[in-house]
Amino acid sequence: MNDNYENFKEQVRSQADIVKVVSDYVALKKKGPRYWGCCPFHSEKTPSFTVAPQKNLFHCFGCHAGGDVFNFIMKIENTTFPEAVKILAKKFGIAIPEKEKTEQEIQKEKASRELFDANALAVKFFQACLLKTEYGRKALEYLNGRGIDEAIIEKFSIGLAPPAFQTLLAALKSRGVSEELLVRAGLVVRRNDGKTYDRFRERVMIPIKDARGRVVGFTGRILGAAQPKYLNTGETDVFTKRSLLFGMDVALKAAREKRQIIVVEGHMDAIRLHASGIIWAVASMGTAFTEQHAGQIARAVPEVVFAFDNDEAGLKAAMDAIPLALKAGLEVRVLVVPKGKDPDDFIRSEGPEAFLNLLGKAPSGIDFQIERTLKQNNFSGLEGKVKTVSNILPLLLECKSDIEVVSRIRSLAQTLTIDENLLVGEYKKIRLGSVAPVAPRLTAAGRERNFDPVEQAERQLLFALIDSCVEDKAERFYEKIEETVFLDDTRAEIYRKFRELARKSGRDIGADLFSELKEGAAAELSLILQQELVIESAERVIGDCLKQLQLARLEKDYEYHGKLAAEYERNGDEKFLQELTESQRILAESQRLKNELKNVF
Ligand code: UTP
Ligand code: MN
Repeated sequence: MNDNYENFKEQVRSQADIVKVVSDYVALKKKGPRYWGCCPFHSEKTPSFTVAPQKNLFHCFGCHAGGDVFNFIMKIENTTFPEAVKILAKKFGIAIPEKEKTEQEIQKEKASRELFDANALAVKFFQACLLKTEYGRKALEYLNGRGIDEAIIEKFSIGLAPPAFQTLLAALKSRGVSEELLVRAGLVVRRNDGKTYDRFRERVMIPIKDARGRVVGFTGRILGAAQPKYLNTGETDVFTKRSLLFGMDVALKAAREKRQIIVVEGHMDAIRLHASGIIWAVASMGTAFTEQHAGQIARAVPEVVFAFDNDEAGLKAAMDAIPLALKAGLEVRVLVVPKGKDPDDFIRSEGPEAFLNLLGKAPSGIDFQIERTLKQNNFSGLEGKVKTVSNILPLLLECKSDIEVVSRIRSLAQTLTIDENLLVGEYKKIRLGSVAPVAPRLTAAGRERNFDPVEQAERQLLFALIDSCVEDKAERFYEKIEETVFLDDTRAEIYRKFRELARKSGRDIGADLFSELKEGAAAELSLILQQELVIESAERVIGDCLKQLQLARLEKDYEYHGKLAAEYERNGDEKFLQELTESQRILAESQRLKNELKNVF
C-alpha cells in the first residue's frame, strides 16, 4: 500500500465517528463515557455491547466481538478491509483516491486512448465525406432511400468512406496520426510489399461505440451489391465483437427505464428501431450472442427480448442465445417478425406500432424453444415422440414454478398424445439427475455463531413434521399449518413440497422429498434432518415452534408499524397515533407470547 492510500485510510478513520457508524445498525444509549446497546453479532435481550467514542473502539462483553470502526463494518457488512474503508469514505463524503497504476496498465491505457483518438478523427473525416462532398450525395440518397434521415445520421455519427485508396490515410496523416497507428486501428491495411491503403472504400461507415460512447471500430456497408455486404474493423484491443453490442451507449438510459433490452442481429435493424422511437435496442452485429453480451445486459436490466431475423439462421441464433441469457439470470422473450426478413424490413412496411404490438405479445424463451422443437420434430411415430420429449423436458428445468412445469407437461402430453403421468415421471428423472443435494456440514461452532431463533424454530418444526409422518400422525398438523408461517422462502418451499407429498403418499417421505427439491432447498433439508432432536411430544414441539414464529412475525410487524408511526409523526400526520396504538397492541401480544415461551427456547 502506498502513502496515498495510507493517508486516505487515516483520513477516513479520523472522520468516521464510530458512534455515528454503529448507530446505523444498533440503537445506542449513552451511560457515562460509553454507549450501550444490544449486540448485533449475537442474540441478546439485555445490552452488553458497548462503544467507547474516545478510543474509537467497540466491544461486546457477551460474544467478545470488538475492534475499531473498520472492523465493525467488515463484520457487520461481511466484507473486506478495503471495501469497509470505501463504504465509510462514501458515507462521510471523502473522495476515494485512484489506485496507483502499474507501468503496464499505463501503457495499455495509452495505447487504447490512441486508438479511440484515431477512430474519433476518422469519424469526423467520414462524416465530412458524407455531408460535404460530391461522393456523399449518392450515399445520402441511399440512406434516405432506406428511410434514414439527417437526425439519425447525426445520432449514430454515420459517414462515408470515399472510393479512392488513400484518402483517409492522407487526411489523417496530415493531422499527425501515424501510419502505424492507423494500421493498428484497423483503418489502414499494409500489404506484404509494405504499401498501405484504406481498408474501407465506397462504404457507408457506421461507427461502433462502447457502452461509454467511445468509438472502438467501424462497420462499413457497401453502397452497391459487391461483397462482403458489411466489412468490420479487424479485432483490436478495443474492438472485440464478442463483448460489444452496437448501440449500447445510446440505448442504456431508456433500457433502464423500460427494464428491458431488445437485441437484434443487424446494425440497420438497431438503427431502424432507434429511428422509430424504440430506443432501447442494441445489435449483436451478426455474431453469435455470447455469455459476455448476456452478462452486460443482465447488469443493466432484468429482461432481454431477442428480435432476430426471421430465417433459419436467425431462429437458430435465438435458440442458442436463450440458454446464455437464462444463465445470466435474465428473463427472456423472443420476437419473430411475421413479415419481411428482419425488424428493419418489418417496421418499414408495417410501422413501429405494429412492432411494439408484437413486442407486447412476444412469447417467453421457453415457449419459443418448445414451439420450435415441436416444429422441427416429426412426432407422429414412437421414435419421434421419444426424441421430442427428450429435447423438451430438460427445457422445463428453467421454469420458475412447479405449476408452470405441470401445465406445460399437460399441454405437451396432449400435443404428443402421451400419458401425462409418464411425462411427469420422465421429468422427475431429469430433475433428479440435474440436482446434486450436497449437504454443507454445519459444525457446532457454526451453529453457535449463526444462532437465529427463527431459523431454529423453522428447522425444528420441519423436523417434527417429517418425523411425525413415520407414525402417520402428521396430517392433523399440516392441515392446520399455513405455508406462510415460515419466514424463510426456502423452508416455506420445503414445507409446501412436504405437504404435497404427505397428502399423496402418507408415511415416510424423507427420501422422496429430496428429489422434489431444487439444490438450495435440498441442502437445507439435509441440515434439518441432521438435527439431533428427540421428539417426545410432537404436539408440544410443533406448538412451541409455531408460537416462536408467530412472535417473530409480530416483531416484524411491530417494527413496521413503529417505523410508520415515526414517519407520520415527522410529517405531522395525525395517523401516527393510529400506528402507535397498533404497534403498542402488537407489543403487548408479543409480550404475552414471550412469557408463554420463556422456558422453551
Ligand atoms: P444481414 O445479411 O441480415 O444484413 O446481416 P442486414 O442487417 O439485413 O443488412 P441490410 O439491411 O441488408 O443492410 C446481419 C448482420 O450480419 C453482419 C452485419 O452485422 C449485419 O448487420 N454481417 C452481414 C457482416 O458482418 N458481414 C456481412 O457480409 C453480412
Ligand atoms: Mn436488413
